[in-house]
Amino acid sequence: DKGEFRHYMLKEIYEQPDAVARTIEMAVDSDAPSKLRDDFLQRHEALLKGIKQVQVIACGTSYHAGLVAKYWFESLTRVPCSVEVASEFRYRNPVVVDNTLVICISQSGETADTLSALRDIQKHTPAGLVSLALCNVPTSSLVRETDIFLPTLAGPEIGVASTKAFTTQLAALMLLVLKVGAVQARMTDEKLSTLLEKLQALRGQLHASLHLDAPIKVMSEHFEYKKSCLFLGRGLQFPIALEGALKLKEISYIHAEGYAAGELKHGPLALVDKDMPIVVLAPKDSMFDKLKANMQEVHARHGELFVFASEESKMVAEDRMHVVYVPEVCETLAPIVYSIPVQLLSYHVAVMRGTDVDQPRNLAKSVTVE
Ligand code: F6R
Repeated sequence: DKGEFRHYMLKEIYEQPDAVARTIEMAVDSDAPSKLRDDFLQRHEALLKGIKQVQVIACGTSYHAGLVAKYWFESLTRVPCSVEVASEFRYRNPVVVDNTLVICISQSGETADTLSALRDIQKHTPAGLVSLALCNVPTSSLVRETDIFLPTLAGPEIGVASTKAFTTQLAALMLLVLKVGAVQARMTDEKLSTLLEKLQALRGQLHASLHLDAPIKVMSEHFEYKKSCLFLGRGLQFPIALEGALKLKEISYIHAEGYAAGELKHGPLALVDKDMPIVVLAPKDSMFDKLKANMQEVHARHGELFVFASEESKMVAEDRMHVVYVPEVCETLAPIVYSIPVQLLSYHVAVMRGTDVDQPRNLAKSVTVE
């Protein structure tokens, strides 16, 4: 039931503060917010203690969640992490070394390529292999075939374009990173408790970002007749740029590409002209000054910028530059909050263009064939 909402996608976008908070509650009690619950993944502590690297396998939006997890694993725990789309991984005879944690991320748990990639690894049984399903469907094949099940508590997702499944995947991945950091003593108690407390603030921050709905709808009017669009981000926002581009193309049918902003001058800058909208994810983080220089490169070539920034960044709208302010959030968790504006943007562009938002052409919710 869509309730008051025009589309399932919009309803699911609005469910994110609760869905993310529910997912976080698996691991943290609100009355003891600075430590992980004893029972969170407790049965699997011995397995998680032994792993030396992480391999994430997933498709589409779930793959983008994996890309964020790579930044988190490596920067917070120093456990090496690789991420690959399942349809490439399974056909290239990859090396999986001993003591690898294989994380399969899938909303449905029935994605054919992800399942096959997992089965191939299991056939070769590297020593100390631990498999984990990060999945929204507890009864799925993926959950049955893995050692550890880490659920996303998004509730059923009906819209083909994934929204709340993505942000709950991110939340659960952060919890997993913290758990690995804790059991392997790779993170100080202080660092752990700071991040856990910041996780508690997410519900409010996600709520506040939903207030951007109106200004983003206004922004979306500039996209109605566009043919192509770039999404830029750096660091933790690069995967969100990829996700923003995927959302826009799948529901509005406008060609879009996500790029690491530092790669601009290695090719895509040639595309930039006055007709090219460029969406920039610009929180005031450690990459902000570099990103600003990238934005200037675009602006100088008459590209039209649509910037999601923090107020603290003091970015202001000017000619050919539109700014929407996103609520303050710490750098580490910012990808979860910045997912909301890119979802809302693609939603409003699609509605304006009159596409079938919940059932985009040629796509299926669960891709059970390769
Ligand atoms: C995009 C989208 C798809 C899925 C992909 C993987 O909005 O929904 O890209 O993310 O088909 O599906 P799951 O997560 O079910 O394995």
